Amino acid sequence: METPNKFKILCIESTCDETAAAVITENREVLGSVVASQDDLHEQFNGVVPEIAARAHVQRIIPVIDQTLKNAELQLNDLDAIAVCNTPGLSGSLLVGVVAAKSLALACGLPLIAINHLHAHVYACQLESTEPVFPCVGMIVSGGHTHLYQYQNALTAQYLGGTIDDAAGEAFDKVASMLGLPYPGGPAVSQKAANGDPKAFDFPRSFIHDKNLDFSFSGLKTAVRYAIAGPGEVDFKTLEISEQKICDVSASFQQAVVDCLVKKAIAATKQTGLKTICVGGGVAANSSFREQLRQACDQNQLTLHIAPLKYCTDNAVMGAIAIERYKAGLFESLELDIQPGLIRH
Ligand code: KG4
Ligand code: ZN
Repeated sequence: METPNKFKILCIESTCDETAAAVITENREVLGSVVASQDDLHEQFNGVVPEIAARAHVQRIIPVIDQTLKNAELQLNDLDAIAVCNTPGLSGSLLVGVVAAKSLALACGLPLIAINHLHAHVYACQLESTEPVFPCVGMIVSGGHTHLYQYQNALTAQYLGGTIDDAAGEAFDKVASMLGLPYPGGPAVSQKAANGDPKAFDFPRSFIHDKNLDFSFSGLKTAVRYAIAGPGEVDFKTLEISEQKICDVSASFQQAVVDCLVKKAIAATKQTGLKTICVGGGVAANSSFREQLRQACDQNQLTLHIAPLKYCTDNAVMGAIAIERYKAGLFESLELDIQPGLIRH
């Protein structure tokens, strides 16, 4: 429902392989939201191909924005600001969203707002919560990132730790590919895991006993490879793996990832003294992870906010963090650049 006197922001997301736009009001009402997934384009490569992603964004960005405005029953001149994710992400993908946003800001004479995609994933926890979720430990578990931050508020955060190699979602995608499961791998591995034994394989849990708040999933990925195919050259496309083994490897792998994520999330609260955890990103859609983190938070008297399922994977509604920047008067010039790499603050 539209609230006429509240400001409205068009948020644009194109950091990786989803082209998305949303119109959000000052009080976090979603007036329109469109996500055009590119999964079908990248599936055959078992991962995102940057060139293909960027070109698909070029084709889709304006139609996606157009459709979002139509769904919201709004015209461009009803908007109060244009917001766009400019970091982190794939260069070509980011460029498309940022150029679209700057063009609209110039043409409509509207302020431009920059969004950090990672902090937007955490802000997704605020979307359907009536309580303020900040300050908190924020955890981003996605295809590209596995990071912990200490948040004083939505806009102020310090980096606590993160993966030194693969991201959790990336590990799901690679394991799925070895098991002959479709891309993106997270949902497929999680489905198989439901019929498998999480104790069938004793996979490594890197850093789990260390004091740091870092993660490493590349050793786990190699251990999975050995469990499936042993050492030496192997053609995973022709490898025959029994259904039970696929399920058991999936369940044991998933449990190893979940153990690391849960342990470090809780450790981050102990290190910071914070009593609330907010989790966002594609892997936050994993039901085993959601369940086990919930249990661990209950045992440790912590408050847990996990992004609503529909806002775990990439979308533009989480760009609602732009509301906070609008209120703080944090606007960008038309020279706004992309920042593909992670800035750790
Ligand atoms: O947040 P996202 O859409 O994109 C990035 O910002 O990277 O996350 C995508 C990742 C993929 O690696 C996908 O396999 C994973 O999230 N994912 C899951 C599940 N659903 C998506 N991983 C585990 N379990 C799931 N149910
Ligand atoms: Zn993301």
